[in-house]
Amino acid sequence: MSIQITQIENRPIGIFDSGVGGLTVVKEIFRVLPYEEIVYLGDTARVPYGTKSSESVKRFSIENFEFLLRFNVKMVIVACNTASSTSLPILRNRFKIPIVGVIKPGAERAAGLTKNGKIGVIGTATTVKSKAYEKEIKRICKTVKIVSKACPLFVPLAEEGLLNGKITFDIAKYYLNPLVRKRIDTLVLGCTHYPLLKKVISRVVGKDVKIIDSASSVAEEVANTLRSNKLLSSESRKPANSFFATDAVEQFVKVGKRFLGKKISKVKKAILS
Ligand code: DGL
Repeated sequence: MSIQITQIENRPIGIFDSGVGGLTVVKEIFRVLPYEEIVYLGDTARVPYGTKSSESVKRFSIENFEFLLRFNVKMVIVACNTASSTSLPILRNRFKIPIVGVIKPGAERAAGLTKNGKIGVIGTATTVKSKAYEKEIKRICKTVKIVSKACPLFVPLAEEGLLNGKITFDIAKYYLNPLVRKRIDTLVLGCTHYPLLKKVISRVVGKDVKIIDSASSVAEEVANTLRSNKLLSSESRKPANSFFATDAVEQFVKVGKRFLGKKISKVKKAILS
């Protein structure tokens, strides 16, 4: 009998989110790192995280992380903005494998792109309350002015597939007009769901405002982290990716297709404890 030992660099990358939203990050990982195998966990039983307290989100994040460790993952991507903005320090303290969150890549890109020094940040209520983007952007550039706004209705609109049309446009105007009035020239989409609404958002803020969808910056950061830790997959393979959801697996498959841009063939139910 031969025992196969998987080399560390060929182990999967773990990714978690509160639900389907993190699939926007997975889509970019597939594009930038096609040979990497992923294990994805969507915590659909407890979504949304964006309206929960940071204490609860921290606890959920630890449990999600522990679930992914069962698959011998070589690193973890916290694809959820709410989880990243509240839980990265506690996760980094507790777990010793590389962890990439979604705040820093988006913040760096925004700080690098703004010309007038006025950046808008939109996200869930918990993300905005945490001020994680503000702190990260200010760390890079002290003089920048940041205007943040929670846009809670964007999450259900994206999940319902209401990506265009009057209702979505009116809600976007309601949320974003105060930022337009502050003359932001850069807008960070600080939530997994907002890239789906990019067209409407862009119509409201105007074509001169640069919109930052952090998913692509995250994929670059993941590639850099793997490279610097010598963890890039050494095989040119078609990886066997796995998808898990903590509840409503069929709904995950249905809605997930819109976020990933293709069908997810198999989603398994995850039992966390
Ligand atoms: N994934 C969450 C985020 O990026 C949005 C959905 C939720 O509130 O759980 O913040």
